Amino acid sequence: MQALRVERLSSDLSGVTLTDVPTPERRAGEVRVAVRAASLNYPDLLMTRGEYQFRPEVPFTSGLEFAGEVLEADPGSDFAPGDRVMGGNKTGAFAAQACVPAERLSPMPAGLDFPAAAAMGAAYSTAFTGLVELADLSEGQWVLVHGASGGVGLAACDLARALGARVIATTGSPDKAERIAALARPEAVIAAEGRFREQVADLTGGHLADIVFDPVGGDVFDESTRCVAFGGKLVVVGFTSGRIADISTNIPLIKGFSIVGLRAGEYARRFPEQGRAINRAIAKLAEAGAITPAIDRILPLSRWREGFDAMARRELVGKVVFQPG
Ligand SMILES: NC(=O)c1ccc[n+]([C@@H]2O[C@H](COP(=O)([O-])OP(=O)(O)OC[C@H]3O[C@@H](n4cnc5c(N)ncnc54)[C@H](OP(=O)(O)O)[C@@H]3O)[C@@H](O)[C@H]2O)c1
Repeated sequence: MQALRVERLSSDLSGVTLTDVPTPERRAGEVRVAVRAASLNYPDLLMTRGEYQFRPEVPFTSGLEFAGEVLEADPGSDFAPGDRVMGGNKTGAFAAQACVPAERLSPMPAGLDFPAAAAMGAAYSTAFTGLVELADLSEGQWVLVHGASGGVGLAACDLARALGARVIATTGSPDKAERIAALARPEAVIAAEGRFREQVADLTGGHLADIVFDPVGGDVFDESTRCVAFGGKLVVVGFTSGRIADISTNIPLIKGFSIVGLRAGEYARRFPEQGRAINRAIAKLAEAGAITPAIDRILPLSRWREGFDAMARRELVGKVVFQPG
């Protein structure tokens, strides 16, 4: 079968190649899935470089999430051939077939096609875990979402708005502002450059943000510490800026806010009941039409390089979805 293999770690994708590999063995407890669509996440890019916290041994098949149809499962398992499922297991999604533990899969929400389901999974569970589970989002709160053109950022805007929050989206790429506004429908899109606290203060009538959702880090994190309301939460999601910020602990003390570290995948692994509840809550919102994943482009897996390059060059507004040939 065709699979996108990371043969060696490289900074320029030169160690990545689309090639034929034997279909994976299915072990007891695993489900074999025919992958119909698989979406690209920032950690996939980082893993080709060996820069992600999870470092699989090379060679490995890239891709942390997919949607597809069950081909084979243990008798008596929750899944049967023909079921439409979504999920993933850190690697292995960018291939014609994947074998993953049954607990890493969930049924596809009714009404979603394969690309939408593949685009929804990790982005929305990350957004839900951060905003709802860890930051206790409630209706009417002000939420400041950074990196809003990204898969996770757009999901956070969409979810927060669907749950009744007032969303301010930020982007480091002002040319993307119109597309972010059309897709995420926040109250405002502002540039995350230099000092943006005054704009947040103006938009919120001096209240500032109850929740800051930050996949960017670096200077954006530093300025965010000036944008959190008293009693608010600053959720650390990632470091796409390339810099992990330092903070003096007197700042959250004086300003009375909390810094919350998010690891959505690990949260679901450690608390499987909550993980399943998160997936059900997201599916319910999707089935009601309250949330819709934003897809920048759908590509055949043979054009994988175009998708990875666009993410590395920061050209995307929404997700890249690959379809194996
Ligand atoms: N904590 C968790 O559990 C968890 C789970 C999943 C993903 N993540 C993390 O969340 C982050 C976003 O992932 P994603 O899949 O949404 O990625 P993505 O689609 O590529 O989005 C990343 C966004 O970050 C912004 N950005 C700011 N500075 C950047 C830079 N120097 N280079 C590239 N992008 C930059 C860009 O938005 P603008 O151009 O609009 O500024 C970009 O669209 C990553 O750090 C990822 O590792 C964390």
